[in-house]
Amino acid sequence: MAYSEKVIEHYENPRNVGSFDKNDPSVVTGMVGAPACGDVMKLQLKIGEDGIIEDAKFKTYGCGSAIASSSLVTEWVKGKSVDEAATIKNADIAEELALPPVKIHCSILAEDAIKAALDEYKSKQDK
Ligand code: FES
Ligand code: FES
Repeated sequence: MAYSEKVIEHYENPRNVGSFDKNDPSVVTGMVGAPACGDVMKLQLKIGEDGIIEDAKFKTYGCGSAIASSSLVTEWVKGKSVDEAATIKNADIAEELALPPVKIHCSILAEDAIKAALDEYKSKQDK
């Protein structure tokens, strides 16, 4: 199956690969797996006291589309508020990367990773 140019571009030059120190109180982590294929994505966000996402990093063990989806969302979330980041939909990711139907679940993984990280943020705020 052919990957789109945008997928290949992110796959070859992934943005923001790596991880933050999870003991840093401003860091939250979203770790999700795709039941369809077993791929795993870890997305970390560094969130300021004002609720703005200052930085993001990812590690994805998976296919090219999953890597491209996570690379893309790290770019998208930077500078956004947590509420804005929560509105990112897998359909936006799939459209931007021109993912074919069989690869839609890879973009869902990225949306789920954002949600999981933001859930951790909320539960930290509630404390
Ligand atoms: Fe290989 Fe997803 S497990 S493409
Ligand atoms: Fe499963 Fe891409 S994440 S094939």
